[in-house]
Amino acid sequence: MIKSCVIGLSKVGKIHCESLLKLKKTSLNYVFDTNHELSKSVSKKFKCKTSKNFDEIIKKSEIKLFIISSPTSTHEYYIKKLIKYKKIIYCEKPILKNNKNLKKIHNSIKKNKIKFCVGLNRRFAEEYVHLKKILNRKRVKIIQIISKSANHNINLSTRNGGLFFDKGFHFFDLACWLGKSKPHQMIVISRSISSNDFLKKNDFSDAIINMKLKNGVNVEMIFSRKNREGNLENVKVYGDKFFTELNKYADKKNLYKDFSIRYKNSYFECLKKFLDNKKNLLLEEGLLTQKICAEALSKANIQ
Ligand SMILES: NC(=O)c1ccc[n+]([C@@H]2O[C@H](COP(=O)([O-])OP(=O)(O)OC[C@H]3O[C@@H](n4cnc5c(N)ncnc54)[C@H](O)[C@@H]3O)[C@@H](O)[C@H]2O)c1
Repeated sequence: MIKSCVIGLSKVGKIHCESLLKLKKTSLNYVFDTNHELSKSVSKKFKCKTSKNFDEIIKKSEIKLFIISSPTSTHEYYIKKLIKYKKIIYCEKPILKNNKNLKKIHNSIKKNKIKFCVGLNRRFAEEYVHLKKILNRKRVKIIQIISKSANHNINLSTRNGGLFFDKGFHFFDLACWLGKSKPHQMIVISRSISSNDFLKKNDFSDAIINMKLKNGVNVEMIFSRKNREGNLENVKVYGDKFFTELNKYADKKNLYKDFSIRYKNSYFECLKKFLDNKKNLLLEEGLLTQKICAEALSKANIQ
């Protein structure tokens, strides 16, 4: 049994708690959040322990697996600490808020032989798995990705790295995965279509991105933090005499629901795959995606 702890207990942290209870090879032993009232109520709900002092938990050698689901602005602190104690790490996306110390952290993961997973869970969602299987047999020309959230909170966006690192992370990764290549060129229009409340906080509310992959596939993306209709996510794929789209394979009743409902099972599948495997999961893909996010952000800043 792999004894574990979840750090950060909002919606996504609680989903991880449920997965750890559901998996046969893990037990949920601790939860930790800087909001101690929340820690207490979650520990009661999931019948596990908590502490006001994170050091007390990390020092317990029997607690091997830590899931980081606190704001992205805190990831670097926890990753460094967990590496020191040689823990197994599942880190919510993105790995870091920016790439300043990305190389150092990557080297430290390698040097200390840390088992690490980047939570790119969309790859494990049923509808994405279905779409990927179909695309493996097709010649893709254009991928259109649309992700609009219903009135997203600005402070939440900035603590999690802003539009490109927070929202973009899943979709830049999915574009490379579905398009079977890496970016070659990118055009980003964002400042002129973003709202002032986001711009004032050095963030962006909207973006239109055109990305050409090295194999010639064109990826068109639309991101928005303010969508009157609710949450919207779809991927349309065009090829020679062929068209398909993600939402064709999705559960129709969840189409406008947020990630915690529409993609709930994918967190479990991603964690299961990580623990069933001896190796890291999606670390290289996560590192590449960090670089794509940074490039998109720098283009948004100058255009
Ligand atoms: N994979 C996905 O689809 C997905 C979806 C949502 C969020 N996320 C990621 O999960 C992480 C958390 O996002 P969120 O939107 O839940 O953030 P959030 O700001 O709501 O915070 C999550 C929780 O962390 C707690 N917290 C704050 N500082 C802390 C600290 N220093 N130590 C421990 N706990 C702390 C907060 O009290 C809160 O309960 C981010 O990295 C985000 O990008 C991923």
